[in-house]
Amino acid sequence: MSSKRFSVNNRQTLISEERMKLQPAEGIISRMKLSRDDIVADLGCGIGYVTIPLSKEVKHVMALDGQQMMLDDLIARTPEDLKGRITPVLSELPELPFEESSLDKAVMVNVAHEIQNTERMVSEIIRCLKEDGVLTIVDFNKVPLPFGPPFEEKIPLEDMVRLYSPMELTQKNVFDIYYQIDLKNNKNLKK
Ligand SMILES: C[S@@+](CC[C@H](N)C(=O)[O-])C[C@H]1O[C@@H](n2cnc3c(N)ncnc32)[C@H](O)[C@@H]1O
Repeated sequence: MSSKRFSVNNRQTLISEERMKLQPAEGIISRMKLSRDDIVADLGCGIGYVTIPLSKEVKHVMALDGQQMMLDDLIARTPEDLKGRITPVLSELPELPFEESSLDKAVMVNVAHEIQNTERMVSEIIRCLKEDGVLTIVDFNKVPLPFGPPFEEKIPLEDMVRLYSPMELTQKNVFDIYYQIDLKNNKNLKK
């Protein structure tokens, strides 16, 4: 397990009131340009801060996390009427247990800085996204903060775009503590 891995012991902070003010899930979702028919993978979904509201906007969410306790809480927090719209998937990134070209979108919220093998992550995302599918990355600006990952683990927006090349940057939003970017797949990137 990565030394960078977010501890399950801190999982309640993922749904703190402070976070809801600083990084509202609804804002993240509204910027994702979703369609009702979308199949979306929430990679490193945690206890579902984004997964649950996201599932109301799309056809289905594949909610992947490497820690079973995160998925247990996600399941417990999911209202009955949304349970059929979310599939919890226990799996280790950067591998993706999804079929080729099976996803319309993928999203990583405060997760990308925890990924060790980014090169493999990019090739897996390109494999699993449909042509013109979109990966949304939300992560912390490289500024010192009393919460979030250690300063040295934060990846500035420009470096993140470089790490996820050859995917193409199509949208960028920068806020005080975090950024949200869209990176588009392209049929020429698929083998
Ligand atoms: C900071 S939490 C963010 C959770 C969620 N995306 C959110 O915004 O509330 C990071 C999550 O990514 C998961 N994670 C980190 N590295 C992972 C890996 N290599 N494979 C699977 N899950 C991973 C952790 O278990 C944790 O639930």
